[in-house]
Amino acid sequence: MKKVVLGVSGGIAAYKAAELARLFVRSGAAVQVVMTPAAAEFVAPLTFQTLTERPAYIEMYTERSSEKIRHIDLLSEADVLVIAPATANTIGKMACGFADNLLTTLYLAADCPVVVIPSMNVNMFKHPAVRENIDRLRRHGCMVMDPDEGELACGVYGSGRMPEPEDIYLFTRAALRPKDYEGLKAIVTAGPTREPLDPVRFISNPSTGLMGYSLARALSERGALVTLISGPTHLKPPAGVKTVAVNTAEEMHQAVLDHFEGCRLIFKAAAVSDFRPLDEKEQKVKKKDAAFTLDLAANRDILMELGKQKGSRLLIGFAAETEDEVENAHDKLMRKNLDLIIVNNLKEPGAGFAVSTNKVSIIDRNGEVEKLPLMEKEQLADHILDRVSGLL
Ligand code: CTP
Repeated sequence: MKKVVLGVSGGIAAYKAAELARLFVRSGAAVQVVMTPAAAEFVAPLTFQTLTERPAYIEMYTERSSEKIRHIDLLSEADVLVIAPATANTIGKMACGFADNLLTTLYLAADCPVVVIPSMNVNMFKHPAVRENIDRLRRHGCMVMDPDEGELACGVYGSGRMPEPEDIYLFTRAALRPKDYEGLKAIVTAGPTREPLDPVRFISNPSTGLMGYSLARALSERGALVTLISGPTHLKPPAGVKTVAVNTAEEMHQAVLDHFEGCRLIFKAAAVSDFRPLDEKEQKVKKKDAAFTLDLAANRDILMELGKQKGSRLLIGFAAETEDEVENAHDKLMRKNLDLIIVNNLKEPGAGFAVSTNKVSIIDRNGEVEKLPLMEKEQLADHILDRVSGLL
């Protein structure tokens, strides 16, 4: 998003729009705020002006005759018009084509995508007039986000609460994405596995799951039906993604097989533990048993098994290496019958486990290597999807 026009109407949730403006600015977008006169009663235009470094407009008319007509001007080159909060009154006016203030006029003049974030009291939200107006906006092509349920400013509990700014930001980003994965079923595995040794200890690795979660989010935003099979992580599952929580490599294997049918794409970003303790002790190992030998058994290689039965599915593997990464990864790709492998060298700064960035090479079956610069895992997820969509 290069330019966002943020329309703020007059509800108590208008204060959350300030945080939303900040998130858009932080993502690199130029943000132009337009408020209804009622919104300016709740939050001072100066708040938005300070956050966006542009005046927040309320009035329709300008004194200087040389100025272009403002509503057209404000929308020029806008990628999206986001109306948050959208009150029952503003929604009603938009649905009926009224143009009685700068914001409603802007809506009628907009030729960019429009995102609407209704926010109001629960009874107002349930009223047939409001429901009909929201349906109308959807028919006009607006992307309307469902409000959250929770405690409302008027003290009652129910639906109508404006979602958190972070969720609105993600909804908007998703709404603008190309839907090149529309309807395709995808499995993503993410995070570490934990192989228990006794009731309180396990073998694991430092994977945080960020690469897999970023892929799952990007796939879902691009239209795929995603099942995320995740080892233990602290990450919030992306909206719209079915998440299956697992612990051990064996559980991950079973969960992948349970979702294998009908799936077109598998991204195996999990850091699966190659070994597990041969016997899990029923009781906690005590200190006095200090020197004991731990026998390990090899876990099944999930990816290798999938490679044998993949049919027309695309299988994308990951590899973390410490030396000769291109040769090692291409060898893994051939052994495991993959379509692409994404490899990083753990010795490179900023690459690998528990950091938000990665520096990888993407290798295909012909041994062609695309070396990518250091980038955020979120950005890398899109890059990987751009490559994979070429194989679909
Ligand atoms: N993988 C898997 N099941 C395992 C081990 C790994 O599905 N038991 C998958 C990972 O999810 C990853 C790929 O295999 O997509 C490569 O993982 P990696 O640990 O780098 O490779 P290994 O085959 O275990 O090889 P090695 O440890 O010898 O480098």
